[in-house]
Amino acid sequence: MAELHVQLNTPMRAEYPIHVSHGALGMVHIPESRVAIVADEAVALLHAPTLQAALEKHGSQVHLVTVPTGERAKTLEVLGNVLSRLAQLGFTRDSALVTLGGGATSDLGGYAASSFLRGIRFYVCPTTLLAMVDASVGGKTGVNIPEGKNLVGAFHQPSAVWADLSVLETLPARTFREGAAETFKHGLLTDGALCDAVLEAGFNARSEKLERVVADAVQVKIDIVQRDPLEVGDRAFLNFGHTLAHALEAVTQHQLPHGEAVGYGMHFAALIGKHLGYEDLTAKTRAFLNYQKPGALPHLEFSDVMPFMARDKKADSGGVRFVTLQRIGAPKLERVAGNVLEEAWKAFAAEFWT
Ligand SMILES: NC(=O)c1ccc[n+]([C@@H]2O[C@H](COP(=O)([O-])OP(=O)(O)OC[C@H]3O[C@@H](n4cnc5c(N)ncnc54)[C@H](O)[C@@H]3O)[C@@H](O)[C@H]2O)c1
Ligand SMILES: [Zn+2]
Repeated sequence: MAELHVQLNTPMRAEYPIHVSHGALGMVHIPESRVAIVADEAVALLHAPTLQAALEKHGSQVHLVTVPTGERAKTLEVLGNVLSRLAQLGFTRDSALVTLGGGATSDLGGYAASSFLRGIRFYVCPTTLLAMVDASVGGKTGVNIPEGKNLVGAFHQPSAVWADLSVLETLPARTFREGAAETFKHGLLTDGALCDAVLEAGFNARSEKLERVVADAVQVKIDIVQRDPLEVGDRAFLNFGHTLAHALEAVTQHQLPHGEAVGYGMHFAALIGKHLGYEDLTAKTRAFLNYQKPGALPHLEFSDVMPFMARDKKADSGGVRFVTLQRIGAPKLERVAGNVLEEAWKAFAAEFWT
């Protein structure tokens, strides 16, 4: 069992534990006597009984509120349904909400908790690798609107997180490897050993080192969030690989899943670093893609992706703001000139389309 700890100071004081272990779901206990489990409907069938039994064992009265699977949960309509259910159940300020699912479920559930009665406590039980190492830490919650993803939301920190590694065994292998991209990214931002652990022996839900790797990747996120809770500085480093990733998701209309877009995006960012004369990390990011086996990219020109990258982060004639790595553990937010991006794109294109 790995025990980690978050401590945030003003303007958002918050402290909460993150439990990472096989079997964590069976150990969930909270002080509130009335609780709603907000669960992804597919995950609910698999794992809600374990969570519900644990909560009831500790005396909580439990209601199960299911929401659509994955991204379909992150709408204002589903948010409204959840809030209405809480009101109909007569929930008060001292009731609580526990989310059970991937990042989509915790984003929706956390946002519902932030707004119901102007804020009730919530707890997170992440069931994807991505949600464990990324979405469940740091208190960003929210939903999508037709105009864009994550455009509506709030910072609302959970009161505790229970990451049960056993639930990853029911996760499709491809979805697990999406989360491996964010895990590998956390390694690149801080520590090569974490990267190597992901690349070693085809990292999967049954890997011996799973607990160590997840706990280390969570700690990276904790450290960054503690330094910069509201994303005015270093928290932006977590966007490493995400500038091209968001462009690829947009041009493929989300046919390429997020974690796979990040896999490609990290390789592109490494190619930029190489062009800028930084440590050459392209062999590592390429090795990650060989492990991840992302879906093939459609043939794309630089002119297809550049408008989306320019939109992603503040761009001007001086270039696009990009997270680069001078070496492992040394990220930097800098403006990258258009001609450097184009050169890196040529190298990228030569690898994926001949
Ligand atoms: N708040 C943050 O800081 C933050 C950070 C990163 C990502 N996110 C958000 O997280 C979302 C993506 O989350 P995700 O990648 O966890 O995906 P997800 O929540 O969309 O879940 C992906 C799929 O996996 C299934 N699933 C989940 N757990 C399972 C399990 N144990 N067994 C079987 N199936 C399971 C779900 O039903 C769903 O179909 C995005 O909306 C993204 O914006 C938020
Ligand atoms: Zn991401």
